[in-house]
Amino acid sequence: MGDQLALIRALPKAELHLHIEGTLEPELMFELARRNGVKLAFADVDELRRAYDFKDLQSFLDLYYAGADVLRTRADFDALASAYLARMAAENVRHVEIFFDPQTHTARGIALADVVEGLVDALSRAERDHGITWRLIPCILRHLDEADALGTLARLEPWLHRFTALGLDSSERGHPPSKFARVFARARSLGLKTVAHAGEEGPPAYITEAIDQLQVARIDHGVRCLEDPAVTRRLRDLGMPLTVCPLSNVRLRVFPTMARHNLGALLEAGLVVTVNSDDPAYFGGYLSENYQATAAALDLSDATIVALAANGFRASFLDPAAKQRHLGDIAAVARRLGVAIG
Ligand code: HPA
Ligand code: ZN
Repeated sequence: MGDQLALIRALPKAELHLHIEGTLEPELMFELARRNGVKLAFADVDELRRAYDFKDLQSFLDLYYAGADVLRTRADFDALASAYLARMAAENVRHVEIFFDPQTHTARGIALADVVEGLVDALSRAERDHGITWRLIPCILRHLDEADALGTLARLEPWLHRFTALGLDSSERGHPPSKFARVFARARSLGLKTVAHAGEEGPPAYITEAIDQLQVARIDHGVRCLEDPAVTRRLRDLGMPLTVCPLSNVRLRVFPTMARHNLGALLEAGLVVTVNSDDPAYFGGYLSENYQATAAALDLSDATIVALAANGFRASFLDPAAKQRHLGDIAAVARRLGVAIG
């Protein structure tokens, strides 16, 4: 629907679930490989793109970690984030909360200073030039052990003032949130909030663990909650936001097609659903495309699209005054485009 496209474009949006390493487009990957003398396993951009045919989360992660190997210098991390932020400015995205995976880089001997400062260089410029506000969230790789996670958290401490929360990502099955209870307790004692991927491929019990043992402020993905009515009720009663990533879920075969995605059912269950892009370079679309594909496949109303955009700001780590400002801007766009909201 042409009209919904205009609405999605015009709405101020927030992105809360975005892995910066997952914004590495094939063209930039080849450029950085050339610059840094890294040999890629693919002959060219087309061959690489043809490999973006994933059968599950792990088959994606294998390629995603291999691709991240081209990121070597502070300037590389700046270039990566700058490309993403330029797109966000063009899409009227006003606020981003960005994940990065410290262990993916420190394991290759890259200094955390180069990772963090390179990202902050790009984020500061985007804030100055485009008014995009931001938060940075380092994530623990859950397929690695607790000792590696604790060491990583200790190495992040010099940049604590740059971070808002600690996250948990990577291979979900067999790596429950409880494995990192002590790591996340330590993060909270340092003043960080916590978030965790749970209920993407893993069972609803992982969502419960993330709430009880990691004391998360949001659940990343969480779509499998509907398999357990008690977990769904708990999320609803807590007003716990879910950062849902529709194109990711279809590409990683959590759902067979977009028409079968449960985002509409999550909303009907009274949950605080937000729309996000996860790893847009790999999953075929950035934030607006996630809104568009979902709205089209699930026949979402204009008012629902507006509500999803508003949830993005409500569920963010912005302060209350900034949230109110963005919600006011959303209401103004809805009024201008004649969308009746509740
Ligand atoms: N799930 C888990 N880990 C990840 C993802 C994801 O969708 N993207 C990048 N790391
Ligand atoms: Zn993710």
